Amino acid sequence: MLTNYSAYKDLYLKCFTDDTEQDAEFLFETVLKKAERVCEYENGTPIAMLFLMDCRVQTKTESLPFYYLYAACTHPDHRGKGLMSKLLEKAKQKSLADGKMGIFLKPATPSLFDFYAKSGFEPFFKYTKISCSAKQFLSNIEIKKAIAPITQMTLKEWQMRRYEPLGLLTDIYADFEGDLFYSAAAGCTSVFAGGAAIVYELRGDTLLVKEAFCRKGNEKALLSLTGAVLLMLRRENIELRLPAVYSDDAFVGLDPKTDYFSVIWHNDNLNLSDYEAPYHGFAFD
Ligand SMILES: CC(C)(COP(=O)(O)OP(=O)(O)OC[C@H]1O[C@@H](n2cnc3c(N)ncnc32)[C@H](O)[C@@H]1OP(=O)(O)O)[C@@H](O)C(=O)NCCC(=O)NCCS
Repeated sequence: MLTNYSAYKDLYLKCFTDDTEQDAEFLFETVLKKAERVCEYENGTPIAMLFLMDCRVQTKTESLPFYYLYAACTHPDHRGKGLMSKLLEKAKQKSLADGKMGIFLKPATPSLFDFYAKSGFEPFFKYTKISCSAKQFLSNIEIKKAIAPITQMTLKEWQMRRYEPLGLLTDIYADFEGDLFYSAAAGCTSVFAGGAAIVYELRGDTLLVKEAFCRKGNEKALLSLTGAVLLMLRRENIELRLPAVYSDDAFVGLDPKTDYFSVIWHNDNLNLSDYEAPYHGFAFD
């Protein structure tokens, strides 16, 4: 356990410039101080670091031990010297020594998929994203007044209830437990109605739906619920993230895009091509 993490937090804030001091403090206090870390130091001060958190990858039959990698960064004065590539190699060795099957992570930007590929991390978990203005969204969906009333769930309820749709809709998913789940879900609200459920947060002018489920064929209820929340919260834009299992036909006019969400590296005991619907779900972003 890291008792004094101020030097690590300073490096984090120097590298992740969109995050505030409060964001960083929350992350270190809730999860990073307890995580395993792999670092490079200069005169005792960290100049490159990454954190590894215990996590599981769930298939239809097994719960596989993995590390989730987060907050990888190199001080701007030391970039391009191979430090992060070296730390990734060390992290891979550590994951095997610690009895994990591998590591997965969500690259902070799309361009970083190539960077991680050089260290053997393959694109794997997918998602479908609908990203548009509230006007476009609302003009392409039907809000059913008659759907069941919108009910709010606590995050604890959501954490327990999401396993059912996860198991039904996907064949492999990342399972964030305990502190990891609560840290990733902090600030989110979860609601359900009409057989659909969404978890959202507000990001400026955008309603960001970080997770959304419904039974296949019931997508209208999901859109209706999202639309009702959008109207209630009066945001300009919406980003809706879904497991990549629904037909695009359900989202006509909304321009859904399916893409890779995160990358994985594993010991050779997992055959990634066996899986049709790999889903990452909640991420720290
Ligand atoms: C990404 C980062 C960790 C790389 O650290 P580093 O110690 O410079 O990495 P290395 O020296 O091993 O590798 C450098 C390579 O990364 C590439 N790279 C760095 N940032 C990149 C980006 N945003 N997109 C694509 N490639 C990137 C460099 O172009 C360089 O490529 P090259 O090897 O072909 O010359 C560092 O740039 C950083 O801290 N960025 C800000 C925080 C961040 O985004 N972290 C990633 C979180 S998922």
